Amino acid sequence: MSLESTGRSTWKSRSGFILAAIGSAVGLGNIWRFSYLTYENGGGAFLIPYIVALLTAGIPLLILEFGIGHERIGSAPLAFRKIGKQWEWLGWWPLLFTMFGIVLYYSVVIAWCVDFVFYSINLSWGDDPDKFFFESFLNLSSSPSEISTIQTPILAGLLAVWLVTWGIIVRGVSRGVELANRVFMPLLLILTLILVFWSVNLEGAKVGINAYLTPDFTKLADPNVWVSAYGQIFFTLSLGFGIMIAYASYMPYNSNMTGSAVITALANSGFSLLSGFGVFAILGFMSVSQNQPLDEVVKQSIGLAFVAYPKAISLIGDAGPLFGMLFFLSLTVAGVSSAISIVEAFVSGAEDKFGINRKMLATVLCILGFAGGIIFTTDGGLFWLDIVDHFINNYGLVMAGLLECIVVGWFFKLDIIRKHLNKVSKVQLGTWWNWIIKLYLPLFLAVILLNQLIRELFTAYEGYSWASLIGIGWSWVGITFLISFIFALQPWKTDSHLEKGRGEEL
Ligand code: PHE
Repeated sequence: MSLESTGRSTWKSRSGFILAAIGSAVGLGNIWRFSYLTYENGGGAFLIPYIVALLTAGIPLLILEFGIGHERIGSAPLAFRKIGKQWEWLGWWPLLFTMFGIVLYYSVVIAWCVDFVFYSINLSWGDDPDKFFFESFLNLSSSPSEISTIQTPILAGLLAVWLVTWGIIVRGVSRGVELANRVFMPLLLILTLILVFWSVNLEGAKVGINAYLTPDFTKLADPNVWVSAYGQIFFTLSLGFGIMIAYASYMPYNSNMTGSAVITALANSGFSLLSGFGVFAILGFMSVSQNQPLDEVVKQSIGLAFVAYPKAISLIGDAGPLFGMLFFLSLTVAGVSSAISIVEAFVSGAEDKFGINRKMLATVLCILGFAGGIIFTTDGGLFWLDIVDHFINNYGLVMAGLLECIVVGWFFKLDIIRKHLNKVSKVQLGTWWNWIIKLYLPLFLAVILLNQLIRELFTAYEGYSWASLIGIGWSWVGITFLISFIFALQPWKTDSHLEKGRGEEL
C-alpha cells in the first residue's frame, strides 16, 4: 500500500529521514552524558562495554523500531494496535512519559544552554562558576519540596525553546522536521569540529585525551559499568521512546531500513566519540592550567557543562567568549533537534488515532510542554529534574524496551518484520536477529531492571526522602502508565487501524 493512499505524511528523501533520526539521537546525552560516563567508568575501557552494547542492543533494537514503524505503517500506538488490539497501550506509554516527562525537563536543560550562550558574551559567571550556577542561576533550594521562586532567565529560555519547537512541528514532517534537521545537523557537525579542533590544540589537552583513551581494564569486572553502557546506548539512540517507530512510518515502501538503522547508530556513536575528544581535551587543559589533578576538575555530570566549561572558557583568554557561545549553541542545536522528535512522536500518535489536525495538536502540546516545564525552572527544579530523570530513564525506558521485545517477539510473528526488512533493505538479517530480540534482550533487560529495583528498595536514590521519591518519581512513571490504558480505550476516530501491514499483504 502506498503511503499516499493512506494520507500519511512522508519524508522527502531517505537522507532527510536519516538526518532526522540522527537529530533525535544526537542530543545533550552525546556530549556531556557520554563524556562523563566514559570518564567515570574507566576511560578508554568504557568504550568496550559501550561498543558491545551498541552492537548487541542498540543496533538490533533500532532495526526493530524502524521495522515496526515501517512494516506496520504507524506511529507507536497505531503500530502496536496493528500488532494486537490489547497492545495499543504499549504504544501510548512511551509517548506519555516522554511528552509529559522527559521533554519537560530536557527543554529546561536546553533553556540553560540558551542562557549560557548569552552569559558567555561577558563571562557573567565571574571567578566562581560553581557558585554562579547553583546559587545565582538556579538559586537551588535545599529539597524538592521547597519551592518558592521561578528563575526568570530560565523561564525566558524555556519559552524560546518551545516557540522554536512549535514553529518546526506545525510545518509538518517534510517542511518542518526534515528541513530543520537538514540545517541543524550540518551546523552541529561544523560547530563540533571547530570546538574539538580548538580544544585539542590547547595546552595540556594531551593529558585529558590520555585519560580518555587509556583503558582501566579493572573496571570491566564491575557490572555497574556494563549497566551504564547499556543505559547510555538506550538513551542516546532514543530507544523505547516511540520516536523511531513514528519516524520510520513516514518512509515510502522501498526504503533500505536496515541500512538506515546501521547508519544512524554509527553516526550517533561517532558523534559521541568525537565530542569526547573535545571534552577531555578541555579537562586536560584545565587540569594543567590550574595545576590540579584531572579528577578534581569535575565532580558531577551537570557540573561538566555548566561549571567546568565556564571555568575553561574564562581561562582561554580573549577568544573565550566566542568559544563559549559556540559550545552552548552546539548544545542548544543538539537539544532542540531531539526535543522536536518527542513532540513529533506524540503528534503522530494522536493524528493517527484521533485524526486531530496537526497545527492544533502541535499548539496544544507545545503550550502544555512549556507549562509543564515550569516546575523545573523553580529553585527546587534541579531536584525534580534529577528524580524524574532517574525514574523515567531507569524504569520507563528499560521497561518499554523490554515489553517491546516480548510483545513483538512472542505475541506476534517477528518474522513478518524481519522478512519485510530483508525485502526492502540491502543488508540481510539472519534468524540470529530474532534470537537477540526474543531472548537475549528480554533476559538482559530484565536483569538490569531487577538489579536497579533491588538497589532502589535498599537505598533511597541520592538520599532523597521516600516521600519525594514516591511522590515524584514512582508516581510519574505510574500515572503515565495508567493514562496509556485510558488512551488505548478511547474509540478510533480514523480508519488507520484497519489497514494491513506491508509484510502481510505480500
Ligand atoms: N538521544 C537523546 C540524547 O542523547 C535523548 C533524547 C531523545 C532526549 C529525544 C530527549 C528527546 O540526548
